[in-house]
Amino acid sequence: MFSLNSNYLKLKAGYLFPEIARRVKEFLEAHPEAATDLIRCGIGDVTEPLPRAVCDAMHSAVDEMGIRETFRGYGPEQGYDFLRKLIAKHDYQFRGVTVAEDEIFISDGSKCDGANILDILGKNNRIAVMDPVYPVYVDTNVMAGRTGNMQDDGSYEGITYLECNHENGFVPSLPQEKVDIIYLCYPNNPTGAVASREALTRWVEYARSHHSLILFDAAYEAFIQDPDIPHSIYEIPGARECALELRSFSKKGGFTGVRCAFTVVPKELLARTAQGGQASLHPLWNRRMTTAFNGVSYITQRGAAALYSEEGQAQVQSLITHYMGNAALLREAVIAAGLTVYGGTNAPYLWVQSPLGEKSWETFDRMLHDHHIVVTPGSGFGSAGEGYFRISAFNSRDNVLEVAKRLSLR
Ligand code: MLT
Repeated sequence: MFSLNSNYLKLKAGYLFPEIARRVKEFLEAHPEAATDLIRCGIGDVTEPLPRAVCDAMHSAVDEMGIRETFRGYGPEQGYDFLRKLIAKHDYQFRGVTVAEDEIFISDGSKCDGANILDILGKNNRIAVMDPVYPVYVDTNVMAGRTGNMQDDGSYEGITYLECNHENGFVPSLPQEKVDIIYLCYPNNPTGAVASREALTRWVEYARSHHSLILFDAAYEAFIQDPDIPHSIYEIPGARECALELRSFSKKGGFTGVRCAFTVVPKELLARTAQGGQASLHPLWNRRMTTAFNGVSYITQRGAAALYSEEGQAQVQSLITHYMGNAALLREAVIAAGLTVYGGTNAPYLWVQSPLGEKSWETFDRMLHDHHIVVTPGSGFGSAGEGYFRISAFNSRDNVLEVAKRLSLR
């Protein structure tokens, strides 16, 4: 009989968000009367419609595809030049950061890129993740066979967990041991924390002196309000030699259902070969993309490009203002309810301490049963998340006002 990838058998039963969805479904089957007023603040999924500029650009792109003269078949696997140029200019050059167009690879999502990038990295790299952590970083390493078994506390042998807590401002200290690949996510999912220039500089210096790679997930950079907080790891000198950056249009452009993201792979980024030499990652990622991916659709990339037009930028800004307005209202409500909250000021997530002694899943159940509100249990993001829960600010204003009201009756 053929065999399977036994690494999958090491995984926890279900990925966090489907597991939450399963529990909510079970609750609704038992309490169908709750269906009409259930409010989902669990998964960070956008609620507001696509910006008008995006819809218009996608409509025109559809029309182009319907005419022989402008029809397009396979596109460049790395993405169309028109989008790569806009990204290089607006996301990087405007901030004084050097990123060349051909260092930008357009994809259908940061989640996929985060998983696929492991294909071009050696199996024996020591991985470090923040704890709490976006579960995709851990699970994809488990699937790829870079870890041992799961331990009683839900952590995996072979991974270095960097604890993030309120004492360190949810920015971990440098590890004592040498690690090869470090996942950093700022603004952070799930804690909503941001990393200062000084903190990121410490990490870049660590990575350069230990020849490590930083996988920097900047999916939420557009939500930063504080002008002193870096939006990109490349704002830190030396980062081009040690960091990859993942970015997404999902949250800032309302693209969770449209699918478009990009990864930056600087040409200076070198890795050790099995023979002890050095090789650049850029051609390897290019090889991987051109072999195992056929690019994002023209229509989608035209939609993403429209986010950079004058009209599109204004519409993105109003989406950010809307979600950050939600975050401010939720913060106020949580504080008024007597709970301790972090995040929500430079990120669309609030990281809330469960009432004394309550475990994360107990809070999840209580919020679901008593208030008909779905949150994400902090322990689902790792053992350091125990005793916390996450509230997503991605919602309509009416729902947020209703959540605030229900929290006041806590
Ligand atoms: C989340 O809720 O953490 C995000 O929606 C996950 C994601 O972006 O994949």
